[in-house]
Amino acid sequence: MHKLVLATNNRHKLEEVAQMIGDKIELLTLADIGFTGDIDETGTTFAENAGIKSRYIFEKYNVNCFADDSGLEIDALNGEPGVYSARYAGTHGDHEANMDKVLKSLEGVTGRKARFRTVISLIWNGQEHLFEGTVEGTIRPGRAGNGGFGYDPIFEPDGYTITFAQMSMDEKNAISHRARALNGLIHFLESVD
Ligand code: IMP
Repeated sequence: MHKLVLATNNRHKLEEVAQMIGDKIELLTLADIGFTGDIDETGTTFAENAGIKSRYIFEKYNVNCFADDSGLEIDALNGEPGVYSARYAGTHGDHEANMDKVLKSLEGVTGRKARFRTVISLIWNGQEHLFEGTVEGTIRPGRAGNGGFGYDPIFEPDGYTITFAQMSMDEKNAISHRARALNGLIHFLESVD
């Protein structure tokens, strides 16, 4: 059985991937291989950041591994918050402050097109493969819903009249950027012997 390390400490992500990946591949966490530190995301694109993480783990442990990086891109803000999505208002993971900053920046702006993007960098037998997923939508003028995380309460995907935060997890996972990028990865892994 192939071993594959998911370069995250996020248990939720691991379980989501484990469910999709089937039993051909043994999925390991960073903790499973004895890595407990943090990897600095110093890149200016999602692909760069994902690649920094996957290559770091590959070079240190010589194992097949993948990492992802995601965020929100708002057209009227020239693609911001982008790679700064988690710390847009200054404090890493302060989702309320991040949403406040976005809503304030968009006050009086009519074009509110945005998208979530995920890029996955997989290092498989020493070679990098990138997988990307996006979901297009608009930024609402205010919050709606309690589900999800991050910018979900202010993001309405195209074709819907509710936000990500008003969807069930299954509904969101059917169309999300992360699920779409993961589908690319799963498809690739299905083709390896
Ligand atoms: P990560 O790369 O998956 O850790 O995502 C970085 C940041 O992007 C998160 O902290 C959120 O602010 C934002 N983000 C990524 N995916 C989502 C999502 O599905 N919903 C809402 N916010 C997201």
